[in-house]
Amino acid sequence: MQISFASVRPAGDHALVVPAAGTQRPGLAGLGDGLDGALRRQRFEGEAGGAAEIFLTNDGGRRLLVVGLGANAKPAEAAEKLGGTLVARLLTSGETNAVLDLTGLNFDADAAAKVALAAQLRSWRHDRYRTTLKDKQKPTLTSLTIVGAPAEAEARWANRYASLAGGVELTRELVAEPANIIYPESFVARCRDQMDGLGIEFEVLGEKEMADLGMGALLGVSQGSVRDAQLLVMRWNGGEPGDTPVCFIGKGVTFDTGGISIKPAAGMESMKWDMGGAGAVAGAMKAIAGRKAKANVVGICGLVENMPDGNAQRPGDVVTSMNGQTIEVINTDAEGRLVLCDAITWAQANIKPNTIVDLATLTGAMVVALGHEMGGMFANDDGLAGQLSAAGAASGDKLWRMPLGEAYDRLIDSPIADIKNVGPREGGSITAAQFIQRFVDEGVKWAHLDIAGMAWSDKPSNTYDKGATGFGVRLLDQYVADVCEK
Ligand code: BES
Ligand code: MN
Ligand code: ZN
Repeated sequence: MQISFASVRPAGDHALVVPAAGTQRPGLAGLGDGLDGALRRQRFEGEAGGAAEIFLTNDGGRRLLVVGLGANAKPAEAAEKLGGTLVARLLTSGETNAVLDLTGLNFDADAAAKVALAAQLRSWRHDRYRTTLKDKQKPTLTSLTIVGAPAEAEARWANRYASLAGGVELTRELVAEPANIIYPESFVARCRDQMDGLGIEFEVLGEKEMADLGMGALLGVSQGSVRDAQLLVMRWNGGEPGDTPVCFIGKGVTFDTGGISIKPAAGMESMKWDMGGAGAVAGAMKAIAGRKAKANVVGICGLVENMPDGNAQRPGDVVTSMNGQTIEVINTDAEGRLVLCDAITWAQANIKPNTIVDLATLTGAMVVALGHEMGGMFANDDGLAGQLSAAGAASGDKLWRMPLGEAYDRLIDSPIADIKNVGPREGGSITAAQFIQRFVDEGVKWAHLDIAGMAWSDKPSNTYDKGATGFGVRLLDQYVADVCEK
């Protein structure tokens, strides 16, 4: 969608969108009599989440869309509601152009730019495989002009949120694609293609290189798959040369059957999005490079497919990870932590970061605990936890901190090896985090974000339709802006 800013409403064919903050509806002034009555008849009160449409017969039948924001809405939230609602309403409505008039709304530049962000994000669809869509089902809206925003809003959109939207879109694409299309090597190829020319350095390790490094935990997961596992390393050097980069590390299980500990058939197709953590890391790299963030950031994706096979690893197998710790694989379906532990060890050996944030669709238990509203955060450092919580609140990718502790850690001691890959059913997300923590070096600030409930949504929101959400990209972009660029 083409988004632009203007000082006055342009001429020409368009649908007009005006916000209503409760009974405050400055955009309706001068549009004619009887509008209040027409809105009342639709039971529209300017409430948050409400919207009403009127066709202006005195203006060639122009469509007027009034979007309710509630009387006391915070600008950032109201902005998302506004941009998202107008796109949800108009995307396939037959309208080609929309003009949104913010006059009288007191949005600051950031809020006005966030309207554009939400509109862009809400317009994303994945129609690649829908060859029989009827014309009426296809999107028609191609442009949005925002009028009445502060002068700096356009630059805020162009320099910050436009590239953020591009990053979120890449993540959604990677997540939405099926596993016969996106597997470790094609994930890498898609990232190279979509980030071409941004100045990100790519390094890719295949199974041979990883075997030489002793990455037995990650490779054990990949053992049953005909696809070659990949460790994708993306470096963005936008900060001072020599400044230690922050590391983002994503779980990229391009399909998780469970392996020999195979999952039930019902719903297994959703495990195509078990690479949502890696997808978020890739999207975040695209976003921060796209806006030339003044920070050094390394994004790492551990990419494998978890399949049952005559050559697959078995429950009870003992594998040796890159840092020498031995792992008893009790359940081959607890594979994400096996991928992450070697990716983290590689990062510590090669990047030597002070801070690591990993993202993973790691446990069903996390979905049970937090539902689909917040990601779970585990951290060994209160300062980092606070920064990520703040970035979550500011960006809309919300996080809730979960505990770590010695008593949980004891639950993953193994009778035969140094550690086992599952604990008891209870506290399953916490013991998964404890497992990862055993691979985090002394002195490294680390946070683990379990985003199992957030990568995919069965219902639409202000910023996405049903399907891939792109969760984590806005969070990481905000964290980089707030913490690494200061
Ligand atoms: N990818 C799954 C976790 C998951 C489940 C994500 C549902 C999103 C929705 C992960 O690899 C997994 O299978 N975890 C197991 C761990 C168990 C075997 C200890 C789980 O959560 O059941
Ligand atoms: Mn699994
Ligand atoms: Zn998994």
